[in-house]
Amino acid sequence: MTDEELLQLARDAATRAYAPYSNFKVGCAIESVDGDIVTGANMENACYRLGICAEQSALTAAQHKFGLDKVARIAVTGGTDATVCTPCGGCRQAILEAAQLGGRDVEIVCGSGDGSALERHRIAELIPFGFGPANLGHLS
Ligand code: THU
Repeated sequence: MTDEELLQLARDAATRAYAPYSNFKVGCAIESVDGDIVTGANMENACYRLGICAEQSALTAAQHKFGLDKVARIAVTGGTDATVCTPCGGCRQAILEAAQLGGRDVEIVCGSGDGSALERHRIAELIPFGFGPANLGHLS
């Protein structure tokens, strides 16, 4: 699957976001090392701080479908304009967890809501000097 195709799945997932408060719909698609795919979207809450990001939603699905250690590539998109949507700080931390578990520098493809722009990043670039399970001796 190409980066554009994975991003399209993220865009499809964003249509299923529940974001009545921010009105900012985010979608995420995750591919495993074996080519399995899961998706997620943000899910807000009347108690604003309890909302869940699209990446966290998709990572939860990944945990159940193939395991966090198998996460290879993540596509994220959100909004409606030409601004590229990159993962928030909390989501970067969650992606770092999966990356360290699997021992790979997870690819992150970020797209704009209008489909006009695409950026490719790696988790080590998005959260340099990150603190993860390796710091706690939780890797085998
Ligand atoms: N959001 C995500 O789903 N992922 C991100 O990485 C950035 C922010 C959501 C949270 C909230 O529902 C909305 O976008 C506005 O912040």
